[in-house]
Amino acid sequence: MEKMTEKNKGKKAEKTKPNMEKEIIKRHPNWNRYILVLSLIWTVTIFILMGWNLTQINLYTLETARIQARSTYEKDIIYRSWNASHGGVYVPVTEKTQPNLYLVDIEEREIITPSGRLLTLINPAYMTRQVHELGGDKRGVRGHITSLNPIRPENAADDWETKALQAFELGETEFSSIEEFDGEIFMRLMRPLITEENCLKCHAAQGYKIGDVRGGISVDVPMESLMAIEHSQNISIVGGYGLLWLLGIIGINFSRQRLISSERIRLQAMEALRDSEEKYRVLYENAPLSYQSLDEDGRFLDVNPAWLSVMRHTPLDKNSYF
Ligand code: HEC
Repeated sequence: MEKMTEKNKGKKAEKTKPNMEKEIIKRHPNWNRYILVLSLIWTVTIFILMGWNLTQINLYTLETARIQARSTYEKDIIYRSWNASHGGVYVPVTEKTQPNLYLVDIEEREIITPSGRLLTLINPAYMTRQVHELGGDKRGVRGHITSLNPIRPENAADDWETKALQAFELGETEFSSIEEFDGEIFMRLMRPLITEENCLKCHAAQGYKIGDVRGGISVDVPMESLMAIEHSQNISIVGGYGLLWLLGIIGINFSRQRLISSERIRLQAMEALRDSEEKYRVLYENAPLSYQSLDEDGRFLDVNPAWLSVMRHTPLDKNSYF
């Protein structure tokens, strides 16, 4: 008994905080594993949510660019059909607006007003081309009217437009992708120009019928400003999720610390109980006075050595009544 008390005392002095933590972890080897698994689940969840959010932002950017391109195309179509509905419109001949070489077969390509001004017929494609040239100068959204069978060779389709036009022949109604050229990134979007009644005045000679794909308009939307917005959104999303992740990890570690400290309190209480029991026992065993413990009915439960030495003549019968 004495020996054990000494040993325990020594142990108690040794038990500084980290040692106790080590012992607790040794007693519950699964705890660290649970914490690790929990942290991993948290990290993976955050990554999945963040990835999903970033993808959504990217899709949103692309769709915004497409919407911009579509509305440019729609505007072009409206202006063009206005022009086509008039079978072309007459404008004054200037240095920039020369009579269209490809309209030679059309009667009255040029007319002279009663006051003597020279006017020339502007067909929809010529008008679209001039409008696109104006737009192109501003380095904004660019447009290009083209065809697989161009009357005007300069209207020929590039590789990307050729692919799009071939897709339209097969029934596609829109073609779009992100492309890089001239050192810039663009959302390229193309839609077909379908032959209507109005178009036949000038295009029937090429063999087109109503409903045929006459060509298309491609629109290039510069992505720079949209990408800058996306970039700043990405930064705040990554920052926000990073913070959330950190808070989660801190929370998980805090819970671990709480678990360990409540276990430490439990162990310390148990140890204190053990110590006090032992103290009592030492006192009981070594007391010069005789002690006995009895149950409720006065039956012997225990006696100390002093008791035995005083009562040595009496045989000890624990079940006897006092
Ligand atoms: C007044 C005559 C005229 C009308 C009407 C007209 N076009 Fe054209 N179109 C032309 C000429 C001429 C060109 C070729 C040169 C240019 O002006 O660029 C052309 C060019 C085009 C091009 C570009 C490719 C190429 O062949 O060079 C497309 C696409 C096109 N037209 C579609 C149409 C559609 C669709 C309609 C009906 C909505 C239409 N056009 C109505 C005269 C006309």
